[in-house]
Amino acid sequence: NTLIIQATDGSLKEDDLKKAADIIKSGGLVAFPTETVYGLGADALNPEASKKIYEAKGRPSDNPLIVHIAYPNDIEAIAKDIPKEAYRLAEVFWPGPLTIILGKKEIVPYNTTGGLDTVAIRLPANKTARALIERSGGFIAAPSANSSGKPSPTQAKHVIDDLYGKVDMIIDGGKSTLGLESTIVDLTGEKPVILRPGCITKAMLENVIGKIEYDKAILNMNMDENIIPKAPGMKYRHYAPEGCLTIYEGNIGKVAEAINKRAKECLEKGKTVGIIATEETKDLYQYGTVEVIGSRKEEDSIAAGLYAVLRKFDELHTEYIFSESFADNGLGQAIMNRLLKAAGYRLVKVE
Ligand code: TXA
Ligand code: MG
Repeated sequence: NTLIIQATDGSLKEDDLKKAADIIKSGGLVAFPTETVYGLGADALNPEASKKIYEAKGRPSDNPLIVHIAYPNDIEAIAKDIPKEAYRLAEVFWPGPLTIILGKKEIVPYNTTGGLDTVAIRLPANKTARALIERSGGFIAAPSANSSGKPSPTQAKHVIDDLYGKVDMIIDGGKSTLGLESTIVDLTGEKPVILRPGCITKAMLENVIGKIEYDKAILNMNMDENIIPKAPGMKYRHYAPEGCLTIYEGNIGKVAEAINKRAKECLEKGKTVGIIATEETKDLYQYGTVEVIGSRKEEDSIAAGLYAVLRKFDELHTEYIFSESFADNGLGQAIMNRLLKAAGYRLVKVE
């Protein structure tokens, strides 16, 4: 049975916090809010507890979990050979949406790291998350709290839809403010590498520690099978909506024209159609269900709205989904990374 509790105004009542921490300490599962997406938490240092996460999500066990901490110095308990860049990044971006990969100490079980000798670490900004981590012993392993293959959850409702009955507790902390998973930086190689783009951009990271590369797989649009992503989770076809999603790129007027044409054809064949548009462009569409993802004037709102829109079209069992594209720099890089994956890289360029 799954207990659902409310974190009002960003904090839990004392007895609820105690209940949640007791569940984690005794090896159970608690889904909790973070500023990026909801996490599915278990004691990171308890191999049996980590194992339960994979079962609840239906996640392949070679896909490592992120260990969430409440204090920057706690990296020293679980990581070794920590380079000075890690301290610099932690100082500037923690608490916040940045995950750092370091060499793991023996105390971290392989069940948590998917068999790797490295460990991913993040200190979230969300207050409820931090209180829970601190009270539960300081180390919570948490992937996104969705069923494997679904878009990450940005509201408690999404978690309930996917995991009700499979976890001990779900903490409802309202909507995730950022809406995209953390940026992942690997510091275990010769040079720092971004394994997953997120709200903390390449330029922001470079301001602090100098030149950084993207993992080749992030830019691998044609899905060359010889390019294997260093973050094992990036190889799965994540965030996949039920319907067939296609992204249209180019001049927005031409994009709308092309989408309208395809939408009309699909409707005439008796198919259901969804369109992902923005505040500024929604009135350009004449067919199907138009969902507004956010405003082009505030890129943040597009990041925050993406997964909810994808889930909405799943709920409606929409068969064909057409989306506008977004600027491929800064935060847009993270947005397009998720959107392209959801689309299985189906991208139409309109002249
Ligand atoms: O924002 C986030 O990071 C959210 C919240 C809950 O904190 N968590 C999250 O976890 O997105 P998850 O499990 O959905 O994604 C973790 C990613 C996966 O792609 C995984 O392969 C990668 O991080 N990862 C974890 N440990 C790694 C390691 N040691 N080396 C390389 N990649 C790793
Ligand atoms: Mg995930």
